[in-house]
Amino acid sequence: MATNRTFTMLKPDSLEKGNTGAILEKINAAGFRIVAMKMTQMSTKDAETFYAVHNERPFFGELVEYMTRGPIVAAILEKDNAVEDFRTLIGATNPADAAEGTIRKLYAASMGENAVHGSDSDENAEIEGNFHFSGREQF
Ligand code: RTP
Ligand code: MG
Repeated sequence: MATNRTFTMLKPDSLEKGNTGAILEKINAAGFRIVAMKMTQMSTKDAETFYAVHNERPFFGELVEYMTRGPIVAAILEKDNAVEDFRTLIGATNPADAAEGTIRKLYAASMGENAVHGSDSDENAEIEGNFHFSGREQF
């Protein structure tokens, strides 16, 4: 059954550049309700586990380094068709290919440092949300 929740992280580059508020405002304006949110920093083991699907890829080491180098904002978001609509809002993985007005077009520097994460399926949204938040932190 499709759920109406997705999971996001504002990645370290977004916090370093002071883009947290602007990105959250875009998320809010697009009609997502925040059902869980916190600022946190992933350990190497956290990032290796979270992105385990990519562990054979040549960029895996860089990805783990990037995602652990500073704090992130993690959140669970609710909206009809949340997973797909959030992927549309953030734009393509490579900001050079991202549509005008998308979060990655506006705030991402490169394919490797692309400002935000968005879950790619309902199943992963649930796994990723539960990775970062206990049941009593989800409202
Ligand atoms: P995400 O999981 O973070 O929402 O990103 P995505 O679905 O758009 O892209 P994915 O293929 O899942 O890749 C995960 C993250 O790995 C980094 N990456 N670097 N240098 C590269 O070629 C490369 N490719 C991917 C990016 O940070 C990407 O978001
Ligand atoms: Mg992905």
